[in-house]
Amino acid sequence: MTQPLTSRIALVTGASRGIGYATARALAKRGAHIVAVARTQGGLEELDDEIRKDGGQATLVPLSLTDCDGIARLGAALHERHGKIDILVGNAGIAGPSSPLGHVDLKSWNDVLSINVTANFQLIRCMEPLLKKSDAGRAVFVTSGAANKATAYLGPYATSKAALETLVRVWANETASTNIRVNLFNPGPIRTRMRASVFPGEDPMTLDTPEQAAEFIVPMCAADWTETGKFYDYKTRTLMSFHPPT
Ligand SMILES: NC(=O)c1ccc[n+]([C@@H]2O[C@H](COP(=O)([O-])OP(=O)(O)OC[C@H]3O[C@@H](n4cnc5c(N)ncnc54)[C@H](OP(=O)(O)O)[C@@H]3O)[C@@H](O)[C@H]2O)c1
Repeated sequence: MTQPLTSRIALVTGASRGIGYATARALAKRGAHIVAVARTQGGLEELDDEIRKDGGQATLVPLSLTDCDGIARLGAALHERHGKIDILVGNAGIAGPSSPLGHVDLKSWNDVLSINVTANFQLIRCMEPLLKKSDAGRAVFVTSGAANKATAYLGPYATSKAALETLVRVWANETASTNIRVNLFNPGPIRTRMRASVFPGEDPMTLDTPEQAAEFIVPMCAADWTETGKFYDYKTRTLMSFHPPT
């Protein structure tokens, strides 16, 4: 396999399982050095083992993305060690409660907004200077169709993804004249723990795997990817301007 991402530094959030894990592995296979963020040490170590088996390299960062000071410290450490990052994949997310809005307690609301929105805002603040040091900084954030569909009984999640999409579009506009390209990726239904928790009656074997979806995130992280402020819809394999059809 050719190594189009050799020596690129790629920060991937939510890399302990699911889409983030698969994306980290797929980027590492192309030669990127992975900075893998999540809380679950076991999942990160398993990822590290797999990446090493493939001949790649990873730095493990056990961190809760609710810790905004921790994200700032990570930015400082990456600056110290590498002087830049080339790729940011803002993938980590939680589904939150499946309830009508009136039954959602404030803590659950705050948790979803904190991880799905505020953490990505803090990542943008802390990683933009490092991405600007790259000759071709690339950022991809993972959203959901729930944002545009305003899915009933997934209120905090749908709201958080709508906010994420606007956040990312703003950043794409602000960085349009720089070397940074910023885009969204909508995976659709993918066989992960999150999907199973929200749709427990669904047969997971009917869904695409995280590995299949990750193959479509990889090109959005490459230096030759030129689009910015766009939305890649995995299910329809379409790159579109915002907002996708429901
Ligand atoms: N699967 C789908 O069908 C689907 C559809 C649309 C959109 N998405 C989006 O795809 C992304 C990945 O979801 P997934 O399906 O792969 O879910 P998943 O298997 O549940 O993985 C979620 C990842 O996010 C990390 N995470 C959660 N809370 C965190 C925190 N506080 N700090 C750091 N990391 C945290 C988890 O790591 P730890 O628990 O180890 O911290 C895990 O690595 C999410 O943004 C989700 O909204 C998924």
